[in-house]
Amino acid sequence: MGGGRIVGDRQRLTQAVIQLAQNATQHTGEGDVIAIGSAIADGEARLWVRDSGPGIDEAEQERIFERFARTAAGRRRSEGAGLGLSIVRAIAEAHRGRVEVSSRPGAGATFAIVVPVDRPEPEQLEQPEVRTP
Ligand SMILES: Nc1ncnc2c1ncn2[C@@H]1O[C@H](COP(=O)(O)OP(=O)(O)OP(=O)(O)O)[C@@H](O)[C@H]1O
Ligand SMILES: [Mg+2]
Repeated sequence: MGGGRIVGDRQRLTQAVIQLAQNATQHTGEGDVIAIGSAIADGEARLWVRDSGPGIDEAEQERIFERFARTAAGRRRSEGAGLGLSIVRAIAEAHRGRVEVSSRPGAGATFAIVVPVDRPEPEQLEQPEVRTP
């Protein structure tokens, strides 16, 4: 565990998390679980959204980030353009980050926006007090 600071666009990062949360609501139903959280480790901050829905086939896990890409299961919903995840990826990359997906079909999906935590500038670090004699 540790603390850290992201220098980023608050509104865009919020928008990205909302896109992931919205997808989670669209692929879950009664009795399913959606969880949202954040963590900092190894110089990276993760904003993650997990759901217990149908998950995404491994073969489709890269393609869903392309614009207008939707899975066969996703297409059964009439609404949705297939743009959400391409926007989430663009926002993550604009923050020098990436989007990770981990999913096993039938066992839900976890999406994480991973962005580097900014190192404090040297002058922000606590300086030892120096006294001149
Ligand atoms: N949590 C999820 N569980 C299962 N499949 C998902 C999940 N999130 C995304 N997908 C799949 O990835 C596809 C692309 O998602 P994306 O958010 O880019 O588009 P969309 O939700 O279909 O449309 P839009 O976000 O533009 O309204 C979805 O259509 C769906 O097939
Ligand atoms: Mg979407």
